[in-house]
Amino acid sequence: MWPLKPGYEYPRNQWYVAGWSHELNNETPVERWFLGEPVALYRDKAGKAIALEGRCPHRNYPLAKGIIRDDALECGYHGFTFASDGRCVRIPSQEVIPAVCRVKAYPLVEKWQWLWIWMGDPDKADESLIPDHDEIRLTSPGWVAVEALDRVLECRPQLLHENLTDISHLAFLHAGTIGTDAVASTRVEVSQNERFLRGSRRIAGETLTGFFSDVLGYDGTVERVVLIDFYAPSLHVALESFRTPEGEVIGEFRVHHAVTPAGPGRTNYFLAWSRSFALEDQGVTDTMNTVFEGVIQQDVEATEAIEAMVRQMAEPKELLVRADDHSIRARRWIEELIEAER
Ligand code: FES
Ligand SMILES: [Fe+2]
Repeated sequence: MWPLKPGYEYPRNQWYVAGWSHELNNETPVERWFLGEPVALYRDKAGKAIALEGRCPHRNYPLAKGIIRDDALECGYHGFTFASDGRCVRIPSQEVIPAVCRVKAYPLVEKWQWLWIWMGDPDKADESLIPDHDEIRLTSPGWVAVEALDRVLECRPQLLHENLTDISHLAFLHAGTIGTDAVASTRVEVSQNERFLRGSRRIAGETLTGFFSDVLGYDGTVERVVLIDFYAPSLHVALESFRTPEGEVIGEFRVHHAVTPAGPGRTNYFLAWSRSFALEDQGVTDTMNTVFEGVIQQDVEATEAIEAMVRQMAEPKELLVRADDHSIRARRWIEELIEAER
């Protein structure tokens, strides 16, 4: 699907964020869509998080509308019951349970407050492939990490990826909060290692805006470093670092954007952030939450407006410039991951 190559949607043998730990319990299943499949999420009595295919194989009733009984999921339509490994353990109207009557059970891992799901071949689900939560400062000492928000966007996943890898938009879409002209006019340097694709900008002599000077408690000129690390295909980590002209760090924060395709034209978006300053200050947390919520709403509206536009175009097209380098390399990386699964 455009702007990916025709027929390309998303890589399957990958970890994606499925939600927040606090959403799951042993009483009410949660339904969510990932990679074009419905999934029912819940916990067993021991607290283990479980993800089952969310469509009853009998008559396609959503399994998340059913009841959790003895750690199994009972369909709310005719009572077929599926154990946490996906096996059908009960068909109320007959004794014999055909072997084909089962649902998929997906590997699901909890790290920090995130649930990570593997929608592809379960034999390939290697937990060590999940981005290191210490490295991205969700679990490291000296940082406070905050669960911020989640949204379902009416746009193809790639539009959100390319919003996140193109921060020249900050100066325009988010002018007045997190964007300044210098963010757009500073050249991006792109580099890659085996874990992430990084876009870096170093902006010297930036005057802090109201929001940043409020939360950092600093008034004056700074060097601002913005790094966007893309852990393909599911996570973008933005680092904002502010230093005095002498090079002393005033404060740093990271924003963690998890992008999980719901289907070809719909996208789950989970946002967390962490900071290394004012660790105990609830006022700073509240201010950052409020500002990020407004910023994300602007991104949601922009990507959904682009989706509506390209859906009307017989042949979608674009005109790329130098600042799109990071986005295009991220796009190629996703295509390579899809290609490797073919
Ligand atoms: S649809 Fe689920 S038991 Fe019939
Ligand atoms: Fe944005």
